[in-house]
Amino acid sequence: MNFELTEEQIAVRDAARDFAQNVLKPGVIDRDEHQKFPVDEIRQLGELGFMGMMVSPQYGGSGMDTVSYVLAMEEISKIDASASVCMSVNNSLVCWGLETFGSEEQKQKYLVPLASGQKIGAFCLSEPEAGSDATSQRTTAIDMGDHYLLNGTKNWITNGSSASTYLVIAQTDVEKGHKGINAFIVEKGMEGFIIGAKENKLGIRGSDTHTLMFQDVKVPKENRIGEDGFGFGFAMKTLTGGRIGIASQALGIASGAYELALAYSKERKAFGKEISKHQAIAFKLADMATDIEAARMLCLKAAWLKDNKMSYDQASSMAKLYASQIAMKHTVEAVQIHGGYGFVKEYHVERLMRDAKITQIYEGTSEVQKIVISRNLLKG
Ligand code: CAA
Repeated sequence: MNFELTEEQIAVRDAARDFAQNVLKPGVIDRDEHQKFPVDEIRQLGELGFMGMMVSPQYGGSGMDTVSYVLAMEEISKIDASASVCMSVNNSLVCWGLETFGSEEQKQKYLVPLASGQKIGAFCLSEPEAGSDATSQRTTAIDMGDHYLLNGTKNWITNGSSASTYLVIAQTDVEKGHKGINAFIVEKGMEGFIIGAKENKLGIRGSDTHTLMFQDVKVPKENRIGEDGFGFGFAMKTLTGGRIGIASQALGIASGAYELALAYSKERKAFGKEISKHQAIAFKLADMATDIEAARMLCLKAAWLKDNKMSYDQASSMAKLYASQIAMKHTVEAVQIHGGYGFVKEYHVERLMRDAKITQIYEGTSEVQKIVISRNLLKG
């Protein structure tokens, strides 16, 4: 078993780290406070090849492996989880879905601008009454011959207003249940496509999360992804990879908080010595470092399985479940180590604590990951 990263993987990780420290960090508190989407920063991430990391260069991507993606996601998420969720959705859910299942025409028209960072994508599955229970889609797409007529509402859509290209899951045949679901490419500006209210969130406040409404939107037939009835399988397969991205985001939030707590504990003195020299703090740091390393191993293993074309659904759910749990636990600890300073924005850890919570909710709650893991354990 080889745990050594390649020179290329190390270079990707270091480039992401430099970008996070030098470009993302200076404005991150302001963007969080005022709910500002990182427009320029995401454009620069695109120019550096981080928005279509795993897409083949033939379609405007960087042709990197999933291990590199995990490394980059960790570094970006240490500083700015709002930027990293935009990056994760674009890479894992939108670009991967289009490259793997889209037609050649769809790839040329939609994937190339998304993978090269000229445009941003969104993935639209959740609805007011279909969250964890994703088969209960109420959005309908009726076959009208040369087009589908799309009607319904989607909730909690990441990149809701910043995106140009939306992958929308809808029911085309209620009788067939989840086998009557399809995925469609919808463009911003199509008549009847309305971008609704922006959510005012606890965390990832720099990311734009919206409700979307579709009122008699005419979606061309050629914008359906894959065979008729493939939409639910499309969503599940895409989310399986997406969970590696969010697991890496949770890992980055945890390791960002740990690095801040470690540095602070070596500077701050109490009772005559640095607080890191008190066992109460040193033991917290030991627990944090151990859990973070375990989460990193789970993320890298899931990525490695995917890169080696092996089954990775259980591994990606395990990585997401564990990394999101330790992100929540250890960001709270990082605030505690900082004492009163942890409670103010300038020290960054309170933001990481708020950002951590969503990693236990989106791209499948912790409970959904346990469904996926336990079904894998019990099958056969
Ligand atoms: N790959 C391929 N097919 C899959 C699959 C997978 N990973 N998982 C399930 N399927 C297939 C099943 O084989 C089954 O097909 P057949 O009937 O032909 O065998 C079909 O899908 C239905 O599967 P289940 O019976 O297992 O479905 P279920 O209703 O019991 O639900 C679930 C399973 C795991 C809970 C699923 O509904 C799920 O993942 N829910 C959570 C949805 C989610 O993650 N939403 C996040 C929204 S996106 C987001 O958050 C992005 C963002 O903005 C950050």
